[in-house]
Amino acid sequence: MNRYFLQIISKVIHYENLTLIANTCNGKWIVIPKKCYDVIDYSFQNEISLSEIENVFENTRDKVYFRKVINNLDNIGLLHEVNLKRKTWDKMSKITFSITNRCNLKCDYCCSSSDIDIVDYLSTEDCKRIFNVIVAINPTYLIISGGEPLLRTDFFQLLDYIRSIYKGKIILSTNATLINLSNIDFIIDRIDGIDISIDGFDEESVSMIRGNNVFGIVVNVIRKLKERGFCDITVSTIVGKNNIGFIDKFYEFCEKLEVNPLIRPFFSIGRGSYYKQKYLHSEYEEFFSDILLHETRYVNRCKAALNQLSINSMGEAYPCPNLEYKEFFLFDAKKIKIDSYRSYIESIYENNNIEEKVDKYKMHNLEKCNSCPINLFCTPCPAIAYNLMKNNAKFDYNCKLMKDEMMGIWKNIKIIK
Ligand SMILES: C[S@@+](CC[C@H](N)C(=O)[O-])C[C@H]1O[C@@H](n2cnc3c(N)ncnc32)[C@H](O)[C@@H]1O
Ligand code: SF4
Ligand code: SF4
Repeated sequence: MNRYFLQIISKVIHYENLTLIANTCNGKWIVIPKKCYDVIDYSFQNEISLSEIENVFENTRDKVYFRKVINNLDNIGLLHEVNLKRKTWDKMSKITFSITNRCNLKCDYCCSSSDIDIVDYLSTEDCKRIFNVIVAINPTYLIISGGEPLLRTDFFQLLDYIRSIYKGKIILSTNATLINLSNIDFIIDRIDGIDISIDGFDEESVSMIRGNNVFGIVVNVIRKLKERGFCDITVSTIVGKNNIGFIDKFYEFCEKLEVNPLIRPFFSIGRGSYYKQKYLHSEYEEFFSDILLHETRYVNRCKAALNQLSINSMGEAYPCPNLEYKEFFLFDAKKIKIDSYRSYIESIYENNNIEEKVDKYKMHNLEKCNSCPINLFCTPCPAIAYNLMKNNAKFDYNCKLMKDEMMGIWKNIKIIK
């Protein structure tokens, strides 16, 4: 079987005589000598399979080494049966739909600035129409989010509707405070997973962000879910300088409850931007990077504009909830009135050059970063890069921070031998 280098989803960093080859979809990477990478690149440019190249080596050691490199490329998902020159439109992996922007809590960091006094923009019929669009696109996952989704008076009607027409996985993103004995069974019969934000590990830590008594209510809900055998439960905490010291306790708490822990670094977005001094070390920072700096197992793998979509509480679609700026606007999901949603959306993706627009805000594509040896690891979110690029002082501050911490990866790098 012929196997070709899947160049179109890869990115490389050349540093001294080494090359780091990364899969930008799954974030995995390997490091090989640059002269070996040149051979791989030659095979791609000339449409020669890697097995054919392998057979050309006369020296057995070189041949064995090259085969090892091919196997490693396979392990990180960078081999394909044909020499693909152009990306095909993948199945949509994830759509997040915020059915409301109302919320019964008032977390100071909230990226969606949710509030109890907001009036719902979308009617029940609007939401159903948008669900029809989502079903036509047929993503693997649908995340129902908000604000707090359960605050909608028609929440149960909507959940029932989407479950009856959609065969993919439904994840409910919730603060869990409105789940109770009278609705829990109805909910778990219709969802596949639940993402619960708690922001701490005991009453004291949680009350500092989410308010008094929220901890007890949420833990009780988690116990009731587990008693019913519902297992796909992720529990998240936001992390900034104020609570970074709590991380170990948060992991212990999740282990005891037997739920999946999720750490969400603070992003200065929405209401969060007014409270950033509580979460960030400096006014020049846009996100809490202390965890990221030690997380160099993967290169940045943001999927915005590739295979994910976000529909906000007004029915507008964007590549990601954090990229709700005019230039990234895709379409108004409540207004689409054509038969083939999927081809419509494909054409929007292609005609809008949305991938290029988002790619502009990935560090490795910036002119001043393109020869930086850590550009595939630096600042993982284009929404953050978008804000950093509007302010030179912030950009330079972030650049120094990233370099100070991440250049070390080249000292400890494991080269394929
Ligand atoms: C906007 S909330 C909506 C769902 C629900 N109300 C909740 O709190 O889980 C969805 C997720 O976004 C996260 N989030 C909100 N603001 C954020 C910020 N400034 N930075 C990082 N994550 C944030 C929350 O912690 C939550 O896990
Ligand atoms: S993070 Fe969730 S619970 Fe907190 S205010 Fe925002 S929407 Fe509400
Ligand atoms: S460390 Fe600086 S130069 Fe390197 S990618 Fe990040 S911002 Fe660009």
